[in-house]
Order: sequence, then C-alpha cells, then structure tokens
Amino acid sequence: MKVLVIGGGGREHAIAWRLSQSPRVTKLFCAPGNPGTAVIAGNVALAADDVEGLLAFAQKERIDFTVVGPEIPLVKGVVDLFAKNGLKIFGPTQSAARLEGSKVFMKEMLVKAGIPTAHYQAFDDAASAISHLDTAEFPLVIKADGLAAGKGVLVTHDKAEAREFINAAMGKKVFGASGDAIIIEQFLPGEEASYIVVADGTDFVPLASAQDHKRVFDGDKGPNTGGMGAYSPAPVVTKEVDEKIRRKVIAPLLKTMREEGCPFTGFLYAGIMVSNGEPYVLEFNVRLGDPEAQPLMFRYHGDLLAVLEAAVAGNVTSVTPQWKNDAAVCVVIASGGYPGEFEKGFIIEGLDVAAENVMVFHAGTKREAGNTITAGGRVLGVTAGGATIEEATRRAYARAAVIKFERMFYRKDIAHRAINRK
Ligand code: AMP
Ligand code: GLY
Repeated sequence: MKVLVIGGGGREHAIAWRLSQSPRVTKLFCAPGNPGTAVIAGNVALAADDVEGLLAFAQKERIDFTVVGPEIPLVKGVVDLFAKNGLKIFGPTQSAARLEGSKVFMKEMLVKAGIPTAHYQAFDDAASAISHLDTAEFPLVIKADGLAAGKGVLVTHDKAEAREFINAAMGKKVFGASGDAIIIEQFLPGEEASYIVVADGTDFVPLASAQDHKRVFDGDKGPNTGGMGAYSPAPVVTKEVDEKIRRKVIAPLLKTMREEGCPFTGFLYAGIMVSNGEPYVLEFNVRLGDPEAQPLMFRYHGDLLAVLEAAVAGNVTSVTPQWKNDAAVCVVIASGGYPGEFEKGFIIEGLDVAAENVMVFHAGTKREAGNTITAGGRVLGVTAGGATIEEATRRAYARAAVIKFERMFYRKDIAHRAINRK
C-alpha cells in the first residue's frame, strides 16, 4: 500500500517511522516531512495546509491511505476533500475538527454530553469579558476561542494581567480571528495527563496514557511551549482514572458528536486534569499530541496501519493495540530563546551516534550543504524505551548529551512526576 503522512514535525516523524515498519506499507510519503522522515519516506514539497495540493498529489500517486498529523489541515477540511474524491484518509472531518478549532464549540459539546470540565462563560466582546472579572474568582483561566499554537491560554491570579490578555486577544487581535471570542473558566488544581484514543465515529480503542511538559524550564517554570518532553505511561492515570476517562469522557463525547451530526473518526486527544482522582477535560485535540506521539509511537507494537484502517472502516475495536517497552520518554531539544525569538541555521552534531533502544526524532531541522541544521524552535525529540520510566529517562538523557548545536537547551527533569511518585 502507498501511504501518505501529512505534516513535518516530530509527531509526523514518529508516525511515519512506526508506519514504515508496517509490513503492508510498500511506499511511504511525507508532506512536507523533514530530514528524519527523508530516511524512511519520500518527502514531498507540499505544505501541510496546502489541502488542494495534497489532494492532487494523492490522486497522481494513487495513494491508498493518508494519515494527517497536525490540526490545521483537519480544521481546513482535508478529510472531507479526500473522502469526497474517493481517497481513504484517517482523521476527523472539518465539522468534527471544530472540537479543537473552537473552544466555545468544545465546551458546548462537553456540557451537552455531561462531561466533567471547568465552569466557564463565553464572551464575544471585550467589555463584557472585562466586567466579568470584577465578580470572578481568581485564579482563573482565559482562553482564546480558536487555534493559537498553544499560546492562547492564560492562567492568572492577577486582574490587571487578565484585563491585558483580554485586550490583547479581543482588541489588538494578537491571535487574529482566533480571539474574536474567548472563554473565562474556573482554575482546576491537579495533575495533567494526555489521554489519546483511536475513534471510528462510534467506538474507540485507547492508546497508552502520556504526560506532556508544557512549560519551558525545569520545575514547570517559564512560559508555555508546544511541549518540552513527554513520557508514557503516566502513572497519574491509574486503572480507576483510566476507567473513568473511558466511561465519563470518551464514550459520552463520541455519542454526543454522533448525535450532533459530526461523528468523530481519528486520533482524539483529551487533555485531562486529574483532580482528587476525578478526570476533568481541559481541552480536546483532534490529532496526536506532539511530543506525546513520540513515546506513544515508540512503544506501539505491531501494525499501526491496521488500527488506523479499522477506524476508517468503522470497526476499530477489531484491533487491540499492543505495547512494547513498559515505558518510553521523549526529551525535546530546543533552540535557545524558544518559545520566544530564536536563531536558526546552526549545525547539529551527534545525530549519527548509535544507541540501543533510542530514536532521535526530527522536528525543526533542515539539510543544507551536507549538514543537518536547526530550522525551528523544537529541534529534536530524543526518545528512549525501557523496562521502567527511570531506565527510559536515563537512556534518553544519555543520548541527548551527545547532541550538540549552538544555544541548544532541554529540560533536565522530564518524567519527574512519574519518578518522584514512587
Ligand atoms: P489548553 O490549551 O486548554 O489545554 O490549556 C493549556 C494549559 O493551560 C493546560 O495544559 C493547563 O496546564 C492549563 N489550563 C488550562 N485550563 C485550565 C484550568 N481550567 N485549570 C487549570 N489549568 C488549566
Ligand atoms: N503536546 C500538546 C499538544 O500536542 O497539544
């Protein structure tokens, strides 16, 4: 089978790498891919959001199956477009992708489905949002409605800061149209987890749990990023919590989406806050997480294509995901300055050092004049497996220590919650 992966980050390298080991994948493409995917797939010079270009490519190459990595093509309707043209594609339709494309829509679905989540109010003008602050209880959380690459959320104790954020989002439009509406919600204390399932519109099979590290510095300090590291499984998702997430979150959401006329097929990612043993939904994403995909794909055992195909065929529960390596850890190596401004173009050394049970997934890299150079904020995701989270963490850090480029940095405490829990 000819398979196309849409995207070019660390998540897509991990997906493509796992698919490349599927016995039925005879030819693999990645659009646009990166120097990591170039080793296992044919990179196609098309942007991930060029949905018309991707369709033309898939038709010309007679692609049998397409897997979508990032949210933007999904929100733009790439699945509808491919399906309308008779092409098999794994991911949610445009109307189902509103779960990530609009936090107001997501909250409405949560309320309809009776899923535990923070109390909230939605606003479409700055003045009423700001006057709401007078009576609101702090800390509180303010979220831009639309996509904002992880930057559209403020958690604050401070009224002046809250006001400033509302003005920036709704007045100055720093997130563009994504800030036309906002929600203000209750702060939930607890520990976060990423719970990702493969859904077929009606039913689902869960992947293993994972935990991301969103803040840029050790000890969860500094601004939010796309994610500085992740590990799987997340011990905060105990057997009981896992059962509650399936029963109280995923099942009712899929049922409600179906009733609303937008059944969900694809990777469904629930951002969960576990508060006193109860799961609350912070957000839904309509794709695999990045960097959660790296440890998840690293641990996935068997034919990934089989479960994705079963989902598109509407019988996902016919496949049971298998896992190898009891734990996996991904440490993201980033460019100095990220998530603010950073320089690109530094030569990366230490990529070709062999190490057991480790993969270095590429994210923001580029090939130039025979070198691999930095080309983004998150550059590499060093991912390792092990029998324990400690072993996987040690292995990932040992491999990361061999990689060198100017102004690089990474968090030294990935997986600390899992390790300190013991
Ligand atoms: P979101 O994009 O909605 O997941 O928000 C980004 C991050 O903000 C989350 O990963 C949490 O760390 C934090 N956050 C969002 N909503 C809440 C909430 N209601 N209570 C506490 N923290 C939150
Ligand atoms: N790692 C968080 C996300 O992919 O949204």
